[in-house]
Parts: sequence; C-alpha cells; structure tokens
Amino acid sequence: MHEKTQSITKLILKAAERARRETSAEPEPDQIARVRWPVACTVGPGLEGAIACESKVGYVNGSKGWLVYRGYDVFDLCAHSTYEEVCYLLLHGELPSPDEFKAFKEKLVDYRYLNQTLRLLMSFPLEEMNAMAALRMGTNQMRQEFSYIDHRTGHPPKMDVIGSDEDSIPMETQPKGERRAIYEFKKRGRRKRMRMNRQLDDAAGLQAAYHLIAGLATIAAAISRVQQGKLPIDPDPGLSHAANFLYMMTGRRPTPQEERVMDVALILYADHGMNASTFAALVVASTLSDVYFSVGSGVAALNGPLHGGANQQVLYMLEEVLEHGDVKDWVGQTLSNGGRVMGFGHRVYKAYDPRARVLAPLAAHLVRGNREMEPLFKVARQMEKEVVSRLGRDKKIFPNVDFYSGLVYGCLGIDPEMFTPIFAVSRVAGWTARVLEYLQNNRIFRPRARYIGEFGKRYVPLEDRAGG
Ligand SMILES: CC(C)(COP(=O)(O)OP(=O)(O)OC[C@H]1O[C@@H](n2cnc3c(N)ncnc32)[C@H](O)[C@@H]1OP(=O)(O)O)[C@@H](O)C(=O)NCCC(=O)NCCS
Repeated sequence: MHEKTQSITKLILKAAERARRETSAEPEPDQIARVRWPVACTVGPGLEGAIACESKVGYVNGSKGWLVYRGYDVFDLCAHSTYEEVCYLLLHGELPSPDEFKAFKEKLVDYRYLNQTLRLLMSFPLEEMNAMAALRMGTNQMRQEFSYIDHRTGHPPKMDVIGSDEDSIPMETQPKGERRAIYEFKKRGRRKRMRMNRQLDDAAGLQAAYHLIAGLATIAAAISRVQQGKLPIDPDPGLSHAANFLYMMTGRRPTPQEERVMDVALILYADHGMNASTFAALVVASTLSDVYFSVGSGVAALNGPLHGGANQQVLYMLEEVLEHGDVKDWVGQTLSNGGRVMGFGHRVYKAYDPRARVLAPLAAHLVRGNREMEPLFKVARQMEKEVVSRLGRDKKIFPNVDFYSGLVYGCLGIDPEMFTPIFAVSRVAGWTARVLEYLQNNRIFRPRARYIGEFGKRYVPLEDRAGG
C-alpha cells in the first residue's frame, strides 16, 4: 500500500479505537426489535420518533454515535474497504466475492458513459445553474438514457439522441392554416420508454441502481467542469470510482492519497438511516414511481441547508469567522441572536457523529502546509470547543458530518459549490439500496395532517372584497 494512504488508514483506525473506547458495544434492543404493526411510538414535529419501515440496510445509534452498514461498522469499512465495495454491500446485503466484484465494477465502467445525458445537459446554461438543480435534471435524463441501454452487454446507447441544438431538431415552423407549430421527432420502432412508466422489475431496478451510482458521479463532474469553463471529459476505465470522480472533475489523475481521501468521504456519506433525502426517495418510490424519480427527489431534498447544503455553508461560515477574528465572540453573538452554527447538531446523534470522528483527523492531516485551509481548520477547532462547551452538555450538540468535510474537500481543491453534489454522488448508494428494499414490501406512504383551520366561511365575490 502507498505510504501516504497507509497514514490515512492509521488515523481512521485510531479514530475507531477512540470511538469504541468512548461508546459501549451493545446495540439497544428497542432500536433493533422487529416492528409489530401498527407500532406504538411517540411522534414529534418533523416526524421525530416515527418508525416508517423496517430495514436491514443500515443502523444509526444516536445516543452512542454508531453507524453500521449491513452489520459492518463504518470505521472498518473506511479503513479497509472501497466505495464500490460498500455500494455492492448496501445493495446486495453481503460483501461481494472476487467474481461478483469484478462483474460489478465492469458494469460501473460501462454505466459511467452518459453520452446522451451529457449532450442534453450541455445544451442548458450549466455554468449559471445551481449545481444541484443541474444534477437533478441529469437524473431525469438518465432515466431516458437507461431505457435505451443494452442490459445484456451494459453498453451505453449510440450517440443517436436528438440533440436540443436547433440544427438537429427537425422542426417545422408554423404551417399555413395551423395555429400551432408542429414539432416532429424521429419515431423509434417500438415505444420502449413506455416500459419506464411501470414499476421496474427487480433485475431492472438493480441495474438502474448501478446506473445511477455510476452516473451521478459523471454528471456531477461534468457540471463542475462546465462551471469552471471547461468541457466534460470521459471517464477512465482503469480508475476506481473515487479516482474517476476526481479525474472527471479536475482533468488530472489523482494521487493515491487524494483517491483514498475521496474514497473514505464517499464511504462515510453512503447511507444514513431515514434522513430527509432518503425518506423523500422512499415516499416517491412507494407510489410505484421508479428509482430515477426517487433519486431525483432525494437530490432535491438534499439541497437544503439543513441537510446536504450544510457542508458548503460551513466553509463560508469559517471564512466569515476568520475575517471576524474572534471565534468566541462570533459564536456568542450567533447563539444569542437565535442563530444556528452550521455543521453542529443532529436529529439523531446526541453524541459525537462517528463520521466527524474520521473527518476531523483527516482534515487535520490534510491541511498541514495548506495556506488557505490551515487557518480555517484552526478556526474550526476553536469553534468546536466553543460550541460544545456551550451546547454539548445540555443540548447534546456536537459537530456533525458536515463540519469537517468541507475542509477535506477544500484540501482536494474542490469548489464549495460541489460539496452538496458530492454528498449526492455518495448517498445515491443508500437511496437506491433502501428504495429497492422498500419495494420488496411496499406500502404507499400517506401520513395525516391535523386540520387546525376554520370552517363555515362564506365565499365573497372578488368585487365585494375589501382592498379593491
Ligand atoms: C441538523 C438539525 C436540522 C437538526 O434539527 P432538529 O433535530 O430539528 O433540532 P432542533 O431544531 O429541534 O434543535 C434542538 C435545539 O438545539 C438547538 N440547535 C440545534 N442545532 C443547532 C445549531 N447547529 N446551532 C445552534 N443551536 C442548535 C436549537 O436551537 C434547539 O434549541 P431549543 O431547544 O433551545 O429551541 C439542526 O441541528 C441544525 O439546523 N443544524 C445546523 C445545520 C446542519 O449542520 N445540518 C447538517 C445536518 S447533518
């Protein structure tokens, strides 16, 4: 193993050892017992405490600060596994055999080519768009592209898409006697895309999951390229998922250390219980919509600053605090004004987030000698002390996964606009694994709202209303 990647493994193992020392080793029985429907539980605002379904995909213990994927501690996976292997594990429930892993990786290589999707995306002003909005658009287009893939070979479709540039759209201008313009598109023999309107069968659902896992990285990297004023580049079939993602963003093959850091970050974000974006994906899946629509809604939900948007906000906040110059004062003012410190607190974790236990030392390792990031890291360390001393004991508020991840990405030279898309590039594994699992025993999600409005009001015609 490369010397520099070995030092990363060492610091993960050290973080794991510390976490195990500080948290007990037994899962809490009430958190893992089978559910007897209808289940009796106390539900708070924001569905806090509600049990939406049973799952074997992953386990989060908020009071101890544990994260487990399919029975494996996330620390072990970070230290010894790869993102591709973790994806296979999440989707299939077991680590792959060497043959299974080879076949899976070959599928990812094929599915990374998204000619049609990228061609269509390039016709939009990606350089001006919100990267998450562009990513969401890309998942929609991938749905279309998937319907043309030859799944026996995994080969992507030929470049026969009807491009959206004016020259390639056979378009008639308004003919005489017609009130509307007529747009005529080349008709394919059979309407294959009808198939996508029905629920994907198990095999196709799994292929779609592979396609999305491979493809989201390609789309996110292409968006990043265009936003840097460059053209997207093809994936390199010889590179791992993490290395490919970095390569497609930067145009430079990453060093072993950079590849390893990205791999660890992707593993850490791959799944996390019934978080807002996963729940959004499941709600859409439960209507028997399909995996692409589900992932698209996951991307949309992830965008918000209370969820995936937080890591980007953290970096901006650290820059602001560095400029302010006094961490203690900044935190004091923010809290006394009722503000939130981004990158702190969690609905589930009332202990130190295990992912932050890995990312904090990783950031410390990477910032050394980095003139831009080192001062921000120092501010982050002081903030952690300050916030935890004020809110740790009573409110159980500690750094979450997003507090240090931006610094790690910053050290890889990644633009803050890309932090949330990177989250999606990783979390697509958890979204798809949970969607496919839920569909095995599907029931449409349909909670209730308590109506607290008025009754018996009489309709007043517009002209009789005040204010005219
Ligand atoms: C993640 C988050 C949305 C969880 O929200 P939640 O479970 O609904 O928690 P609540 O909003 O009910 O907060 C509980 C209490 O902690 C406080 N709190 C929570 N997060 C806080 C933060 N980051 N900074 C300051 N106070 C915070 C709240 O003000 C509230 O205090 P109160 O009881 O005196 O009113 C919330 O902690 C947050 O906004 N964090 C910042 C954004 C972030 O980092 N998101 C990434 C999550 S991985």
